[in-house]
Amino acid sequence: MPGFEREKICLTEVRTEDFNGFIFVNLDKDAAPMDEWYPGVREELGAFVPQIDELQPLEWIEIAENCNWKVSVENYSECYHCSINHPTFSSGVIKPETYDIQPQAEGYVLRHITECQSLEAMSYEIDMTRPHAGDYRSFFLWPMFSFQVYPGNVLNTYHWRAEGVERCTVWRGWYTPQGWDDEAIRRLALQDRTTTVEEDIRLVESVQKGMKSRGYRPGPLVLDPACGLKSEHSIAKLQQWMREAVDG
Ligand SMILES: [Fe+2]
Repeated sequence: MPGFEREKICLTEVRTEDFNGFIFVNLDKDAAPMDEWYPGVREELGAFVPQIDELQPLEWIEIAENCNWKVSVENYSECYHCSINHPTFSSGVIKPETYDIQPQAEGYVLRHITECQSLEAMSYEIDMTRPHAGDYRSFFLWPMFSFQVYPGNVLNTYHWRAEGVERCTVWRGWYTPQGWDDEAIRRLALQDRTTTVEEDIRLVESVQKGMKSRGYRPGPLVLDPACGLKSEHSIAKLQQWMREAVDG
């Protein structure tokens, strides 16, 4: 056909960005780069997971939750429920009394910091000779993704996907270099699936049920300027970001 320019005919282009080997897709071509949204995370995550560029998924699970995605994200963003609701995580992975979540001064990041459980109590073995092997970090990237590093430089991820007002799916991933099989990581993923994940489903679905009650009234948030385990400053931050997003 005259005038047909084959090179101009293509699928709709979408913007992608490589973030430590993970490909993020953004349908907004004018969005700011991830380093502006999440300053410093790329470097800090790389330091906590030195092998990150070699990682590929080993285990993927899809967690169906009958709740609004914001209920699930808020639940993820505080840990005062951990010692009561997550006995395995709280006794075999981290020390819940040291858990703190700090909003980063710049950008849209909630950084989770806690001490790892004593080595004798850990539910899996870790090689303590590697840098940051005894540390735990989580980087929640507003609105729907989190890089979580378990002690032992073990990377795992959460990706929330909204599917309706009262339904979301959380994609939970576990990684090893080149995706090689690793019995310890498989066991850890299974431990997480059968304890923390199950325990959180019960919590978020009961919150959703409660919010539908005609007696439901939003309560005040407990805010400690120093943050800390019992403070809900991180929830206030999420709600602030949500208002900014809705108000444009
Ligand atoms: Fe939880």
